[in-house]
Amino acid sequence: MKGEPQAPHVLIFPLPFQGHINSMLKLAELLSLAGITITFLNTPHSHHQLTHHSDVLSRFPAFRFRTITDGLPLDHPRTIEFFAQIIASFDTVTKPIFKHWLISGHFGSDLTCVVLDAFFKNLVDAEDAEIKHPIFGFRTVSACSVWAYLCVPQLIEDGQLPIRGEEDMDRMITNVPGMENLLRCRDLPGFCRVTDTNDPVLQFILKQTQRSYQFHALILNSFQDLEGPILSNIRTLCPNLYVIGPLHSLLKTKLSHETESLNNLWEVDRSCLAWLDNQPPGSVIYVSFGSITVMGNQSLMEFWHGLVNSGRNFLWVIRPDLVKGKNEEIEIPAELEEGTKQRGYMVGWAPQEKVLSHEAVGGFLTHSGWNSTLESIVAGKPMVCWSYTADQQVNSRFVSNVWKLGVDMKDLCDRESVAKMVNDVMVNRKEEFMRSATEMANLARRSVSPGGSSYADFDRLVNDIRLLSQ
Ligand code: UDX
Repeated sequence: MKGEPQAPHVLIFPLPFQGHINSMLKLAELLSLAGITITFLNTPHSHHQLTHHSDVLSRFPAFRFRTITDGLPLDHPRTIEFFAQIIASFDTVTKPIFKHWLISGHFGSDLTCVVLDAFFKNLVDAEDAEIKHPIFGFRTVSACSVWAYLCVPQLIEDGQLPIRGEEDMDRMITNVPGMENLLRCRDLPGFCRVTDTNDPVLQFILKQTQRSYQFHALILNSFQDLEGPILSNIRTLCPNLYVIGPLHSLLKTKLSHETESLNNLWEVDRSCLAWLDNQPPGSVIYVSFGSITVMGNQSLMEFWHGLVNSGRNFLWVIRPDLVKGKNEEIEIPAELEEGTKQRGYMVGWAPQEKVLSHEAVGGFLTHSGWNSTLESIVAGKPMVCWSYTADQQVNSRFVSNVWKLGVDMKDLCDRESVAKMVNDVMVNRKEEFMRSATEMANLARRSVSPGGSSYADFDRLVNDIRLLSQ
């Protein structure tokens, strides 16, 4: 005779970066609301930052928070420049411990399944018979970038890669199914910007990506109306797909009240909300380059001049570790000081979801990270995309050329382009972009409402996890 059905218990393990932790904590919160027990696994560094700045222990009393070492000291820098080093350390130090913990019942004998950041596929070997728990992959980036990643081996085989230097960057890529004549070389995922296809980082990422479809199932933070045709292509390789985004918006539906992301690794400066309250509707361009982008002083100055010269009001997030070599003396010209005093406001870290939904904000100058892109879409705000690396290069092309939600400024970093593109979005082409942004925001909200595609897929995910626990 069968016993009582066990309550499902899911272990969630994100890559230790803000964008990944943010969306996986939201998934954890959603699953917890559905009655599922959550163990949330973090590196000591992420856990320290989250407990310190976001009080996650008291906000999620039902979660079992656990930590696992990434093999790096607490004060090791965690920006994109150290990405390869961080991942390599996971491979050598974290992987054996994680496997041992999984097979020894460290997370509890009731563990049903694991939701692993899909970038971490390396952490468990698909063919490892000792690991009995089904592993769901959660790819926290856009479907369009996942599909572009998946097509890279074919691009290499067809001779479309490598990119032959700067003069080759505008060549059209013709053989990504569903994206024919859309992507230029410069729009391919950032790691494709190598002149040798044997480049170790390219090879490593390709290996990771090809493993995406070895998961029990794949979860994506997107929605059908945004990326339907691309999702159909991905389903040919990963038929068991749950498309449940925008997660922050689905969470609002399930909680039946307004909520804001509080999963910050930095201290939030809320003073910018009061500053926004005093600005006219639609007058402010919000500027943020996400959690791991870095830039030199020269780029910073070009952005600064461009923003002041644009004549628009601006709210700019300058993270404590945004600028490389910031100890070098830089002289700030008087016109920048003056222009900022008149029209600007700067913070180290903003309450971004609240900022984007504020009526004073008329546009978003963004690095095109996927969370930022989805948050802008839900808030109905057009974008100026200064994509920096990885998936962001594909996202920005889709924002400008497919979804028509703004302009793509990738690979330009001069004050004239900044001022021009900001004004394109805020003034010259405002109506056109606002129309498509409003339409897409409505579609996003519909997808996470009862009857919507993401709402239904999330319920299917919960049911499937319940079935696994029986
Ligand atoms: C990283 C990669 O850069 C990105 O390409 C990938 O899509 C996800 O992982 P990140 O740089 O952190 O992401 O950008 P993004 O995905 O946009 O996530 C940043 C998160 O931090 C957003 O949820 C945003 O709301 C939040 N944020 C950012 C704040 O809350 N305040 C800020 O001041 C800036």
